[in-house]
Parts: sequence; C-alpha cells; structure tokens
Amino acid sequence: MTNFVDVRNMVGWVARTGTEAVIAGILEYLEHDFRRWESFDKTPRVASHTPFGVIELMPTSDHESYAFKYVNGHPSNPALGYQTVTAFGVLADVHNGYPTFLAEMTVLTALRTAATSALAAKTLARPDSTVMAMIGTGSQAEFQALAFRIALSIRSLRVYDVDPDAIAKFVRNLLPFGFEIVVAGSASEALEGADIVTTCTADKARATVVADELVRPGMHLNAIGGDCPGKTELDPAILDRSAVFVEYTPQTRIEGEIQQRPADFPVTELWEVLTGRAGGRTSAEQITLFDSVGFAIEDFSALRFVRDRVAGTAFEQRIDLVADPDDPKDLFGLVGAFSPVG
Ligand SMILES: NC(=O)c1ccc[n+]([C@@H]2O[C@H](COP(=O)([O-])OP(=O)(O)OC[C@H]3O[C@@H](n4cnc5c(N)ncnc54)[C@H](O)[C@@H]3O)[C@@H](O)[C@H]2O)c1
Repeated sequence: MTNFVDVRNMVGWVARTGTEAVIAGILEYLEHDFRRWESFDKTPRVASHTPFGVIELMPTSDHESYAFKYVNGHPSNPALGYQTVTAFGVLADVHNGYPTFLAEMTVLTALRTAATSALAAKTLARPDSTVMAMIGTGSQAEFQALAFRIALSIRSLRVYDVDPDAIAKFVRNLLPFGFEIVVAGSASEALEGADIVTTCTADKARATVVADELVRPGMHLNAIGGDCPGKTELDPAILDRSAVFVEYTPQTRIEGEIQQRPADFPVTELWEVLTGRAGGRTSAEQITLFDSVGFAIEDFSALRFVRDRVAGTAFEQRIDLVADPDDPKDLFGLVGAFSPVG
C-alpha cells in the first residue's frame, strides 16, 4: 500500500498546522538537503512545450528515496478558469522501487517555492531588509509574503499586478496576517523604498517586469516567474549588475533569467553558499539576485516533510497503487481470476 495525501487532506493539514509553520518546516528540510546536495542524482527537468504552456517531470534521488514531480505551467489558464500551475508528486523506495508516498503538490509547490525563496533570502539578502515589493499577485504571492516574514521579518509589502482583481484578492487574503500593504499603480511605484523585490508573474514571453533603472544598490531580487525558455521577467542589464545565485546551473541556463546571457555567465549555486564552498553577499551595496526556476530537490524535501508530519494522522490515506500478487511472478493470476471460463 502507498500512503496518499489528497488536496482535501493537504489543505486540512496546512490549516491545522498553520501556513507559516509549514513553510518554516519545509525550510528546515530544504536546508538539510541543500547541505548534502552532492549526494543527489541531478538532471535538468524534462519539459514538453506547446504554444499553450509546458508540462514537466522533475526527478531526483538520494539513493535511499527517489522522487519526481509532475508540474505544468500554463500562463493563459486563469483566463479559462484553470490555474497556471498544478502538480502532484511521488516518493519511492530505491531498494525495491515501490512508490511509498503520493501527494497533491499544487498547494505544496507554492509552499516549497516560498520556502526556497526564504532560504535564498535568509542567505543572501541584507538582514535589515524590511520592505518587499511584489510584482504579480497570483497563486504563489501570499505564500511568498509569509515566507519572507519568516526569513527576514518583512512587515511591509508594496504590491503591483496588471490585474486589479488579483491585487484585491491578495490584500483580502493577507490583511488578517497583519502586514502593512501598499497597493502600487505600477512596478516602478512598487519598487520605491523596497529592500527585496519578488517577481512572480506568469507570461510566456520575454517580459520586462522590472526595468534596470528601478534596481538600487543593496536590493535582493527574488525572481521566480522566469522559469521556461522564452519566459523571463527581468531587464537583462540587471543581471550584469548583480551577483546571481541559482539552484542547479544546467537547468537554470535553459530556463532562468540567465538564458538571456552567454553560457559562461558567472553564477553561484545556493548550496555552495550554504556549505561555505562559495561566498554570498559581499557588501551592503551589492545587488543579489536569486534566479529561481524550481528544482527537483526542493520537491524531494517538501514531500519528505509532509510524509514525516502526516504519518499516522487522519490526513493520510492508504491507496492500492501497486499490484501485489502472492506469487511475485504470477501477475497474470490476478487478472486470470476475472477472465471468462469455458
Ligand atoms: N521558481 C519556481 O520554483 C516557481 C514555482 C511555481 C511557480 N513559478 C512561476 O511563478 C509564476 C507565478 O505563478 P502563479 O501560480 O502565481 O501564476 P498566476 O497566473 O496565478 O499569477 C501570475 C500573476 O502575474 C500577473 N502578471 C502577469 N504579467 C504581469 C506583469 N507584466 N506585471 C504585473 N503582473 C503581471 C497576472 O495578472 C497574475 O495575477 C509563474 O510564471 C510560474 O511558472 C515558479
């Protein structure tokens, strides 16, 4: 039998635990796994592109557990009543290859992306950062805001989206959490006085959501929406003025903001900073940029965290996912019992 967390149980468990507590818990698991980065199998995700969007498979293994996530990215989906991003994921035991844990990951991806942004910001941003600009207030946005309160005590949010309804939704959802929220009329206005800039827009285009002249010394940029070939958010000139940090370089060169720069453009992987192998921010004036695309190890960490926390609770179900004949060579016997006779 395989343990299973469906959407109803994931949402119920997050509500019971508290969204911030879940993000903080995933953050701990992420940090642990990033520190043992070299023990994982790594490959750029396998992407199937269409004019509408992308469907991706994201595998990794630490030689004890194997994980993969199925995820899509369809920026035009909300106009049709569907979400831009949906996902599910699996953990398996490498010793026998059996899937041990299956979970919805639409909600979990938002939580793990927020936790990854928090890990990067905690490592790279100025610790005295208090104000965050957020460009794009769709599905990921509230999770990002909560994560930055955990990472850096961010209390003030300056938000902009091309869709006023998305801003209204964001304000409505986050007001009970006690943030000061300033609604800006443009990205430029949102960036005024910001220490952190999070871009989480969805557009299958080389967009310039943030222009170079808006980026000031000392800022930390958390760019999560540029995550596919031909889908970027930042003026490429920003890259040349920033210290750029990435998850897994071979994947980010294909998908991240750095696709706008040559293949030898200098980057540092976040795990290298966490393990002391490379330096992070070098001065209060430096611009740091986390060019995030989302990497399989983050899903591995998030799945492990949920699996460990829901084990033995009512939020976990057991499903019959693997055929299991008494004689492991007699698979036909299972269907033979239902075959017509005579
Ligand atoms: N890096 C990662 O690990 C990671 C993980 C999940 C999602 N993502 C990406 O993050 C992005 C946001 O995802 P989502 O689920 O919140 O999508 P969403 O469609 O729910 O929200 C995106 C928002 O961006 C707004 N927007 C689009 N263009 C804009 C512009 N030029 N200026 C201001 N606002 C603009 C839209 O109106 C929308 O409200 C997507 O591109 C997605 O692929 C990245």
